Amino acid sequence: MHNTEHKRYFSQELLDWYEINKRDLPWRRHRDPYYIWVSEIMLQQTRVDTVIPYFHRFIERFPTIQSLADAPEDDVLKCWEGLGYYSRARNLQAAARQVTEQYDGVMPSGKDEVSGLKGIGPYTSGAIRSIAFNIPAAAVDGNVMRVLSRYFLIEEDIMKVKTRTKMEELVLTLVPDGRASDFTQALMELGALICTPKSPKCLVCPVMEHCSARLEGKEESLPIKTKAKPPRPEYRLTAIVEGTGVHEGKILIRKRPAAGLLAGMWELPHVIVPADGGSVPAAMPEETAMVGLRDALLEEGIPVQPIGHVMDAEHTFSHIQWNMGVYRCKWQDVPPAALQAAESAAAYETGEENFRWIHVQDMERYAFPNVFIRILKVYFSS
Ligand code: ADE
Repeated sequence: MHNTEHKRYFSQELLDWYEINKRDLPWRRHRDPYYIWVSEIMLQQTRVDTVIPYFHRFIERFPTIQSLADAPEDDVLKCWEGLGYYSRARNLQAAARQVTEQYDGVMPSGKDEVSGLKGIGPYTSGAIRSIAFNIPAAAVDGNVMRVLSRYFLIEEDIMKVKTRTKMEELVLTLVPDGRASDFTQALMELGALICTPKSPKCLVCPVMEHCSARLEGKEESLPIKTKAKPPRPEYRLTAIVEGTGVHEGKILIRKRPAAGLLAGMWELPHVIVPADGGSVPAAMPEETAMVGLRDALLEEGIPVQPIGHVMDAEHTFSHIQWNMGVYRCKWQDVPPAALQAAESAAAYETGEENFRWIHVQDMERYAFPNVFIRILKVYFSS
């Protein structure tokens, strides 16, 4: 289907262009597979500019696979704080432990071995094997699919597995002998710098001459991508619980369960407001919210008296959108009537594993999702 000449032209021009135009990125200064691995995991769903400082901090704190495997999970999450998609960090550490146990701490290069590591799918496997080991392997992500769909005029939905598989096969026919590492990075670089989603810079593109989309005036309408479902909205009442007595001046935080969304991260206590007849409230009258929050938290063994509204906050995950109403609350010494709650309340007071009373300066010691950092900053600075 694609003319061999056009393929050879593509690969050669791309490599020549990359040699001159590649960005000096921290993970490009080494061939250490561990560095490539960490960078590829961080770069999933995250921009290069955002990743750079995290990459430096992470490598400094966990310089080797062994050191990552040996670290407490909380330290790894803290280092990842603010990057989002925290299961990436937990899987990375689990995989580091796999490498120490199964491969003596040395990153394997075989397809099955690399793909068998936690958190490593076909894209990351291809990226590590090609970039770090110079093995001809395809690393096809959204950027690469955009480049290929345009140059080769592939008008198929890139959300379909079949399209991705086809592009992986195509890449393998494009990799020049002995140049797998540079070729993978050159494809990514073209997607990042020239063949951008909007207003691609065709006039300075090294392969513009034979780009089929460009020749047909379709560069802006490719790739074809079915829209993902919009995230499902949820309304959550959130409590900043101020301590009393020995906990005066502190607030209550809790740790999320070890599995699921934001697993193992710390947060402010919050409760979900059930959808009313299928619709989720975008906000609530303060009084209703405060009564609802008090009752729901008491049921969870957290006796509080809500005092007033602090702010609203929002956070969008890939599938869910949290709309949060944040309320300042005072810890309630357990009234005799609430005997049920008393046991658990006492447990929190004595520092049960999943609850802590913290001062503002203790925030540094716990990993919080961004939305809670934003809320806590507003609260502590007011
Ligand atoms: N995006 C994904 N992997 C990348 C890499 N190695 N360099 C730059 N951008 C990337």
